[in-house]
Amino acid sequence: MFHRSIALALLLLTMTSCEAFRFLVVFPMASKSHSILGHGVVNHLLQAGHEVVHVTAFPRDKPAPKLKEIVVPNIFMAIAKEDPAGFAAFNLQNIANSGNPADSSFFFNIVFNFHKLFFEEPKIVQFLSDPQEKFDAVIIEWFFSDVIAGIAPLFQCPLIWVGSTEAHWQVLKLVDGVTNPSYNADVFSANTPPLTFWQRIQELWTMVKKIVTISFFITPKEKTLYDSFYPKIAALRGVQMPSYDEAVYNGSFLLLNSHPSIGTPFNLPESAKYVGGYHIDSKVPPLPEDLQKLMDNAKHGIIYFSMGSNLKSVDMSTAMRESLLQMFAKLKQTVIWKFEGELDNVPSNIHLVKWAPQQSIFSHPNLNFFITHGGQLSTTEAVHYGVPVIGIPVLGDQYVNMKAVVRKGFGIKIQLAEDMAKDIYVAIQEMLANPSYKQKAKEISQIYHDRPVPPGKELVHWVEHVVRTRGAPHLRSPALLLLWYQKMYLDLIVLIILALLILRSCIPKKSKQTTLKKKEKKK
Ligand SMILES: *[C@@H]1O[C@H](CO)[C@@H](O)[C@H](O)[C@H]1NC(C)=O
Repeated sequence: MFHRSIALALLLLTMTSCEAFRFLVVFPMASKSHSILGHGVVNHLLQAGHEVVHVTAFPRDKPAPKLKEIVVPNIFMAIAKEDPAGFAAFNLQNIANSGNPADSSFFFNIVFNFHKLFFEEPKIVQFLSDPQEKFDAVIIEWFFSDVIAGIAPLFQCPLIWVGSTEAHWQVLKLVDGVTNPSYNADVFSANTPPLTFWQRIQELWTMVKKIVTISFFITPKEKTLYDSFYPKIAALRGVQMPSYDEAVYNGSFLLLNSHPSIGTPFNLPESAKYVGGYHIDSKVPPLPEDLQKLMDNAKHGIIYFSMGSNLKSVDMSTAMRESLLQMFAKLKQTVIWKFEGELDNVPSNIHLVKWAPQQSIFSHPNLNFFITHGGQLSTTEAVHYGVPVIGIPVLGDQYVNMKAVVRKGFGIKIQLAEDMAKDIYVAIQEMLANPSYKQKAKEISQIYHDRPVPPGKELVHWVEHVVRTRGAPHLRSPALLLLWYQKMYLDLIVLIILALLILRSCIPKKSKQTTLKKKEKKK
């Protein structure tokens, strides 16, 4: 009897606490760091009792109840074949010589090709064509391509975007409008507000250039892909596709993987929220035994060096690698270097690891600081654990991230170059001598943690809110109802110019006549 009432109470509790929904989570970017964000979303939704279908190139080790994974091959590799020159531009050595490859128009082409290959993938086509599949909402990573928005109307459910970087005008355009470039830098920019006169012009120019490039060269290709891909599949499901524009600008919500403590504050519409840090486990997994011993015994502390999951240290030139090894060998500190290959004659204070349990390393008290590429996940994790950083931005948003780190005072930025070892050495000495970086890192970390609810909870709340309110139309920005020239009052300006022209065509004749008359009188 007692057991039965407990069972009944539990049943009631689960019934009242939440209604279970079914979600589709799609993170098309087949890269390790983006997939970490995808798994983070999935984990929180599963924990909240929902059912999830996850499209990913990185399946988890163990299956989970209520989770179905659609495993697609790593499209990155296919891109390498399709566009070898573009792909090679993202190699560490090439970037060291020619700069941020994301800050160019061919980046948009690569991203487009990427999405095209995604929709050519038989497993994707088969899954999307299956009329048995039904969802309460689809959660999609937006990565510089809009065509993927069509998945939501296919399933006739609300669309929730995830932005994997700091907020920026291109992603905010989907749920609100473009931001003012005079105080919001582009996500690939090296500028950070407050902007000088020239920087404001630079930002405006970048925006205009990108808008023109995208509207003339990318969007037409996307529309063609949209029209050739979705309607066929929609017919199988018995639904009709809205137009490309209707689909792209119909997102219900935008979750942003950032936080003002990490980056730059942005004006967000009601339908966008920062949930940066949601991918971080509240329980830190223990270190492997060898690393635990190494870190415990490091008398002078630990320096942790990792260039992230996309940029491989093995891609460094021999000269760069050797100079880094020699420089690290001069230090008293122990260096943990995430290095994917094998090396001979490694100095005794350097410990190479193929894979690093980054969060467990961050939470060890003997860690002095972190040398990083400044990726969004690494920066977020450093802030989460209050670890100061030396950053060597390589591509994409890493420049913006490191600018913010330097401005906030918890890090030093180094220019990526073949001979950067000497600059890193100087930065290391400064880091070791000056305690202000660590203090600042702790301060920023406190700001980061000072939120009403942890980011994972907030993420689940808004996702459920969108489903419960059938697409959250009450949050939708009215900016989406206006055309760009209406927002800029260009219609008013045209009206004023017309009025002035009309006035001029009436008045000057009279005044000419009167001046003529006056002249005549004088004569
Ligand atoms: C836009 O989204 C809402 C909410 O999900 C949905 O009801 C509506 O049908 C969508 N409109 C189009 C044109 O897809």
